[in-house]
Amino acid sequence: MTTTLPRPTAAPATASTLAEPVISMVDVGVTYPNGKVALADVSVAIAPGEYVFLVGASGAGKTTFIRLLIRDQLPTSGRVVVAGKDLLKLRRGQVPKLRRRIGIVFQDFRLLPNKTAYENVAFALEVTGASSATVRRRVPQLLNLVGLHEHDHHLPTQLSGGEQQRVAIARALVHDPAILIADEPTGNLDPVTSWEIIQLLIQINELGTTVLMATHNQEIVNAMRRRVLALEHGTLVRDEAGAAYEREY
Ligand SMILES: Nc1ncnc2c1ncn2[C@@H]1O[C@H](COP(=O)(O)OP(=O)(O)OP(=O)(O)O)[C@@H](O)[C@H]1O
Ligand SMILES: [Mg+2]
Repeated sequence: MTTTLPRPTAAPATASTLAEPVISMVDVGVTYPNGKVALADVSVAIAPGEYVFLVGASGAGKTTFIRLLIRDQLPTSGRVVVAGKDLLKLRRGQVPKLRRRIGIVFQDFRLLPNKTAYENVAFALEVTGASSATVRRRVPQLLNLVGLHEHDHHLPTQLSGGEQQRVAIARALVHDPAILIADEPTGNLDPVTSWEIIQLLIQINELGTTVLMATHNQEIVNAMRRRVLALEHGTLVRDEAGAAYEREY
């Protein structure tokens, strides 16, 4: 007799969990030129549509992990495959195309200071040769998605931190990426604003984008109960679905 296994609540066995991983690392190590081992023997596979937290103390290797995915850093050993591309085999000329498949946001927003919210998002499209018709259609759509249509003519200095992060998220989404990576996106924000940004990331995830978020924010990780990857001194010490910030066993 066959029994039906109950579905785990945190990571439902949807078709997407059976699909090709959108991010895969096999035995990955990174040693920086000064001899610092930032990552060692990291193996992980992330399916399309997942929302994954990357946690660990300062210096554990979270940003290095992220730099690998955007090919800002090549692995010293092992294999990294992102959106179907083996990054060690990727030719230099193919890197911009890979980066369009990955949106990224940072703790410090990194907006262009002399451009308005609208222009910051538009610029990301223009540099890849988008037509002015595309820019006019797409930018308001994205600002609307992140809830920022009213302040589109404001410079970054005229926006709050949370609003700046919304612009950065809109900009990260211009090419409709498969993956949105956020490196400590709430690190400069107060708790209420942090939650607003998390709500936005959840909404984007629900629209189908894989989200990988490095964070020190225990409260958010504990409340969300998603998959947690925990790094310790460059080693992946925990990969757990529906998990808390700290190990619970
Ligand atoms: N370019 C580099 N050259 C040498 N060592 C580096 C370089 N970048 C990072 N490191 C070292 O590698 C280790 C991992 O750094 P990483 O920035 O990945 O940590 P992190 O988990 O993102 O930390 P934080 O939470 O503070 O952002 C640290 O010991 C760091 O000092
Ligand atoms: Mg970091």
